[in-house]
Amino acid sequence: MAQVIDGKAISTQIKEELKEKVAKLKAEGKEISLAVIQVGRDPASSVYVNNKKKACEFIGIRSLAYELEETVSEKELVELIQQLNEKEDVHGILVQLPLPKHIEEDKIIKTISPAKDVDGFHPQSVGALCIGQKGFVSCTPAGIIQLLKRSGIEIAGKECVIIGRSNIVGKPMGILMLRENATVTIAHSKTQNLKEVCKRADILIVAVGKPKMITSEYVKEGAVVIDVGIHRNENNKLCGDVDYEEVFPHCSAITPVPGGVGPMTIAMLMNNCVESAQ
Ligand code: GUN
Repeated sequence: MAQVIDGKAISTQIKEELKEKVAKLKAEGKEISLAVIQVGRDPASSVYVNNKKKACEFIGIRSLAYELEETVSEKELVELIQQLNEKEDVHGILVQLPLPKHIEEDKIIKTISPAKDVDGFHPQSVGALCIGQKGFVSCTPAGIIQLLKRSGIEIAGKECVIIGRSNIVGKPMGILMLRENATVTIAHSKTQNLKEVCKRADILIVAVGKPKMITSEYVKEGAVVIDVGIHRNENNKLCGDVDYEEVFPHCSAITPVPGGVGPMTIAMLMNNCVESAQ
């Protein structure tokens, strides 16, 4: 029987550990603050932002909410970030993406001080990750490493195939798995013979953005399958990029959707905030 990798339980464990650390820092007189900036009122973004605020509350981190109008100018947003960069009592700055079209995301990401870049999106953070230097790591890939390690899954020497090459998930995921001594392949929409490539994987990490695309035809018997996708199916129920029921009998471990990778992203964001304050 495949092991179900319980992201909810593991993320709760991490948050409990962080809560203790934060309490100790508080006793030493250090309070941690995270600035959360949302532009406009996209409902999906509001859900994510609210979950981040709730996690802050649970752990004992002060969240400073900046809710800006959809029409805010790029200049105004840049100025707000520059002010927050200067504030010693702000340890992390998060700008919820996507941003409205009139604002250049790359420019906004570059404005955040790398010392407060708890999302790990700044080019300096990504560069540091690539050459093994200290810096914040993108939260979803960092969360997946924790899921694997805390589930007792060996990474070193394993064949790892990642499907998806985004800056937020696929690319940093590849670097992190390499750092853990896996042999890494990053597959994408132009990859030829995708099924055969995926069938090589001892650990298959799926971030394609297509509901239930990955069936057992892509999965080696006994592989570990990590599903980064989240979608609503025809019955309005949440599902991932992996056809969970169909793949389950063929793998040794698998993350469910919901309750797999999702909760880990916020736990790792909280971890980055604590690290920033330390
Ligand atoms: N939008 C979707 N995911 C994320 C994330 O991890 N961080 C930010 N800032 N925006 C997002």
